[in-house]
Amino acid sequence: MLHFGWFLSYTVQSWGRTWSGRGGEEWTQPEQYIEAARALERAGFDYMMFEDGSFIPDVYGSSQDWALRNAAAAPKLDPLPLLATIARETDNIGLIGTVTTSWYPPFFAARLLTTLDHLTKGRVGMNLVTAHNIRSAENYGLQDDWDHDKRYARADEWMQVVSQLWDAWEPGAIVNDPVTRTYVDPSKVHPINFEGKYYRSRGPLNCQPGPQRRPVICQAGGSPTGREFGARHADTIIAQARGVERMKEYRDDISRRLIANGRKPQDVKVLFICDVHVFATMAEADAFRAVRENDAALNLELNLASLSFASGIDGSTLDLDAPFPELTTNNAQSVLQHYLIGSEGKTVREVMSKPISQSISFTGTPESIADEMADIAAQTGADGFLIGGGIERRQVAEVSDGLGAELRRRGLARDSYDWPTFRENLFAF
Ligand SMILES: Cc1cc2nc3c(=O)[nH]c(=O)nc-3n(C[C@H](O)[C@H](O)[C@H](O)COP(=O)(O)O)c2cc1C
Repeated sequence: MLHFGWFLSYTVQSWGRTWSGRGGEEWTQPEQYIEAARALERAGFDYMMFEDGSFIPDVYGSSQDWALRNAAAAPKLDPLPLLATIARETDNIGLIGTVTTSWYPPFFAARLLTTLDHLTKGRVGMNLVTAHNIRSAENYGLQDDWDHDKRYARADEWMQVVSQLWDAWEPGAIVNDPVTRTYVDPSKVHPINFEGKYYRSRGPLNCQPGPQRRPVICQAGGSPTGREFGARHADTIIAQARGVERMKEYRDDISRRLIANGRKPQDVKVLFICDVHVFATMAEADAFRAVRENDAALNLELNLASLSFASGIDGSTLDLDAPFPELTTNNAQSVLQHYLIGSEGKTVREVMSKPISQSISFTGTPESIADEMADIAAQTGADGFLIGGGIERRQVAEVSDGLGAELRRRGLARDSYDWPTFRENLFAF
């Protein structure tokens, strides 16, 4: 069986397209997310993963104009309060929000996630990122110490503090016995007195652990330092690696790193990010693929804007007809590398005029995509797939009720959730 997640932001979901409906107006309200969550529960999805960032992109064209005009990663709201709202209207799906280790003080994050774990009855997770954009550092006034590997070193210590805070209350600390007038057994609640290189916290947390004690930890950074961080702390890794060979290398590398850290390969569920386009017939799928492949102007613009977003290098300044230059970044290293694959000996225009998929792009019928997913998981060791994109209603229905139903019929997707918490369901197989 495979695991499935849906990747999205708390941003404009669909706007100005044939099936957008009232997308431009309704995205701030919870209803559309709740509808999507229910549809994905029908399909047995493990989780919805909300990415996040605290900035308006302004690298492409050296201006925020493109992002604002196109509603591209802006405007964007903080997804964490939304998780509690979705949880009230759903029963089983895991709900992951993004938490940036570089901004959130560990005590604040540990308490917030414990609160959400209670509110969601054990269905919350956090996607840990170090943040990749200098603008968000500037928004928090923390731009002075902006080194890629140092961000991860700090994140590692951050995770130690948060873990200790979550364990500061022993099991059984809540007695709730009016007869002996004991609500909490004080002998089971301990300070942590953490003194590290970057953080200090006295502890304990001033609330008891939620149903999961430790919310599910998700991680995405794919540089060597990022992978090492994931192998130490994550329960699920959302990975970007283009094509079967790189996906296999990624999963094998994570398995090696897990073992080196005293964990087992099956302790982390690796889901590869993909885009999925479901059609009733292969003829429709082929027609869609051809249009997408050949829309050079649109592909060029979207790819250059995405490269700018991930790397901090303004793609609009690249000479389109010159060979692809050497690029390096202090931002998201693995994401920049993703765009450079296959660029040797080619011009910028040649590389960027074609669609650049996340890890893999699935375009076909429910049957053909189910075949491909099973085959790719077998070849790469992937635990499953993270479907990327907004939650335009038609797209969600195609996946949940078209592809999802086919996957369930084949026993590739779960038919029911057997456990109350996200963590237990994630590790049920
Ligand atoms: C699937 C995926 C999801 C990501 N989600 C976020 C996110 O929500 N917020 C963020 O700041 N970075 C996000 N990133 C970027 C990474 O988490 C990380 O911050 C960045 O890639 C730098 O790490 P690296 O150099 O190890 O790749 C994501 C990356 C991938 C591949």
